[in-house]
Amino acid sequence: MKRNLMLTTAALTAALFFSSCSEGVKKEPKPIEIQELTKDQPETHGSEVKEGDITLSTPLDQAMVTAGKATYELKCQSCHRLNEEKLVGPGWKDVTKRRQPVWIMNMITNVDMMLEKDAEAQKLLELCLVRMPNQNISTDEARKVIEFMRSNDGEK
Ligand code: HEC
Repeated sequence: MKRNLMLTTAALTAALFFSSCSEGVKKEPKPIEIQELTKDQPETHGSEVKEGDITLSTPLDQAMVTAGKATYELKCQSCHRLNEEKLVGPGWKDVTKRRQPVWIMNMITNVDMMLEKDAEAQKLLELCLVRMPNQNISTDEARKVIEFMRSNDGEK
């Protein structure tokens, strides 16, 4: 009951902030099957990424960009566009400019922790109304996705 109320509030909030997250989406958001977290999931991708665990350098590592793009096409594209339009989740344009690398890493590898604890992640959930599923992405794979995101944001 409380959950329903919260969802309604979230829906209203989303309606109010229509332009910030729902741009280009005119229909009601389609119901999406959300992967249930299995209890016996391996812990390998679950540890929090901390400040200092990730370093970015320029120029971009093109091999990582290519690998990150492949992960995107396989596991992210169904919900994220590369421009600013929302699909299920926010478009990725400029995501590397509005978020810290560590934040992005945790969003990819520890999404449940982020949705539980992080205010910014919770705001996105209120707008998008779908929980991003944990997709068992390793830290290494996530790092390559960041390289691809940087490339998408125009870094060389
Ligand atoms: C089933 C849909 C879905 C899939 C698949 C998905 N995401 Fe998401 N993602 C979301 C939603 C929805 C949000 C907003 C937070 C929320 O509601 O949980 C989000 C938020 C994000 C954010 C924060 C964006 C911002 O603007 O700050 C990042 C980064 C992200 N996802 C990365 C990924 C990566 C990387 C993959 C693929 C490995 C992926 N997502 C796959 C639905 C998805």
